[in-house]
Amino acid sequence: MEDKELVNLAMEAKKRAYAPYSNFHVGAALLCENGEVYLGCNIENAAYGSTNCAERTAVFNAISFGNRSFKKIAIVSDGDEYTYPCGVCRQVLSEFAPNIEVIMANNKGEFIKETLCELLPHIFSLKKHN
Ligand code: THU
Repeated sequence: MEDKELVNLAMEAKKRAYAPYSNFHVGAALLCENGEVYLGCNIENAAYGSTNCAERTAVFNAISFGNRSFKKIAIVSDGDEYTYPCGVCRQVLSEFAPNIEVIMANNKGEFIKETLCELLPHIFSLKKHN
């Protein structure tokens, strides 16, 4: 699947964001090695710390459906800047896909791509990777 197509799916996921507190909507689309795509949006809570980011929602969605082989993830938000994943989401991605490609888009759908290795060098892991 083309990067742009995955960004468009992340934009669809963003429409389902539940973000009444920050009013900052985020969507993610996670492409698995077998071609399946799992979507996620941010889900906020009155107890702010209970909020779940869009990227983790997408990852947990895929895991819940039995898929743990990830190829790339697209992230989009309301922001003018490219949407970089937060540190917690980087760590969660590293658990299952230390070499995943991360596509970061802005609200216009323009995007850049980096590997998770670039975004999170020297990861903490109990597994032997690469
Ligand atoms: N958020 C994400 O969904 N992904 C990120 O990588 C950064 C932040 C969400 C969490 C919260 O609902 C809102 O954006 C503002 O921080």
